[in-house]
Amino acid sequence: MHAKIAVLPGDGIGPEVTTEAVALLQVVAEVYGHQFEFEQGLIGGSAIDDAGTPLPDATLALAKASQGVLLGAVGGPKWDKEPASRRPETGLLGLRKGLEVFANLRPITVFPELVDASPLKREVVDGVDMLIVRELTGGLYFGQPRGRSAGKGGIEVVDTLQYSEHEIRRILQLGFEIASQRSGNLTSVDKANVLESSRVWRELAEAMAVDYPGVTLSHQLVDSAAMQIVQNPKRFDVVVTENLFGDILSDEAAVITGSIGLLPSASLGAGGPGIYEPIHGSAPDIAGKGVANPLATMLSCAMLLRHSLSLEVEAQVIEEAVKRVLAEGARTADLAGQSIGSTGNSPIGTQEMAKRVREAVKR
Ligand code: NAD
Ligand code: IPM
Ligand code: MN
Repeated sequence: MHAKIAVLPGDGIGPEVTTEAVALLQVVAEVYGHQFEFEQGLIGGSAIDDAGTPLPDATLALAKASQGVLLGAVGGPKWDKEPASRRPETGLLGLRKGLEVFANLRPITVFPELVDASPLKREVVDGVDMLIVRELTGGLYFGQPRGRSAGKGGIEVVDTLQYSEHEIRRILQLGFEIASQRSGNLTSVDKANVLESSRVWRELAEAMAVDYPGVTLSHQLVDSAAMQIVQNPKRFDVVVTENLFGDILSDEAAVITGSIGLLPSASLGAGGPGIYEPIHGSAPDIAGKGVANPLATMLSCAMLLRHSLSLEVEAQVIEEAVKRVLAEGARTADLAGQSIGSTGNSPIGTQEMAKRVREAVKR
């Protein structure tokens, strides 16, 4: 197969982890006889510095002309005081909107070898396998009006949680479809005791449930869901939720797995290229040190192969390779911290971890 992949490294640890992910895809291409053509683009703070905008037109055009977008992370303290139009995060949001990737799949899988890397008890985390289906192009992130103005009492500020029925239906439908292919257990997370948007979300979910007799739909308020995710995560299978709730709950769920440096994501729309990125950010505290965990981005490559290129075998080969190196005791610092006593392994860096995964793919 020939495929064009857009690579947007971004800021902080973004370039460190995407370099390793591209090298991994190159190995997969060699081993399985594919041709992947990589083209790099600017996004985020580095795009502000080099091109004066967090999402240059050329980047969006490159992404649209590709079959899949591999993204590192954006943001950092250097740009934190900038207005919205010159914030790195605005570039990422523009890319998601520009590609209409309304569904963000965030699998939360616990590797048996890493059960002790989680600060939670073994019996709580062992066997967790859930999927957060996060709405990605609507809600509080995009609703209008938004912004600040001068008022009598000082600054007046507004953000709007806005959804159309169409936007809610399409993400719920995906939640139902995926749940019917998994255990049939779908939890819709909302704040229907307070928010009108959540009440409409609930009504639409109830109405759709009739079409999916094999799926058991339950509703949960987001505050109690946040508690249950760390108290009893095994009760969840597929969780479908609004943009901001999904953002927050997925970082929380990362704690179950041992590190946010492990969690990949796929952002999908109605047939165009998907965006594949780790759920973590640019990690300014460790950027440039060569210690970032590259596995979230490498596992995002597996999702790219699966969802955008239909290369299921190759996707599984990456996932198996990651499992194997973890089983052999490889740990980056984020994982070694809590499990060092139990494994006796000293941490390895980004490049060494990535190299071991590539070697495992070749074995
Ligand atoms: P973060 O996810 O960057 O970091 C949170 C903590 O997790 C830090 O201690 C960091 O060192 C650690 N961490 C993250 N990824 C890691 C990895 N691969 N290996 C080891 N440790 C890792 O969140 P933050 O510090 O709140 O945000 C930093 C910047 O990143 C902000 O500008 C934020 O807007 C941005 N951000 C971007 C994305 C994205 O591009 N998709 C996602 C989240 C945050
Ligand atoms: C994520 C990030 C982004 C989000 C930011 C950087 C815009 O936190 O991908 O989870 O909130 O979606
Ligand atoms: Mn986030």
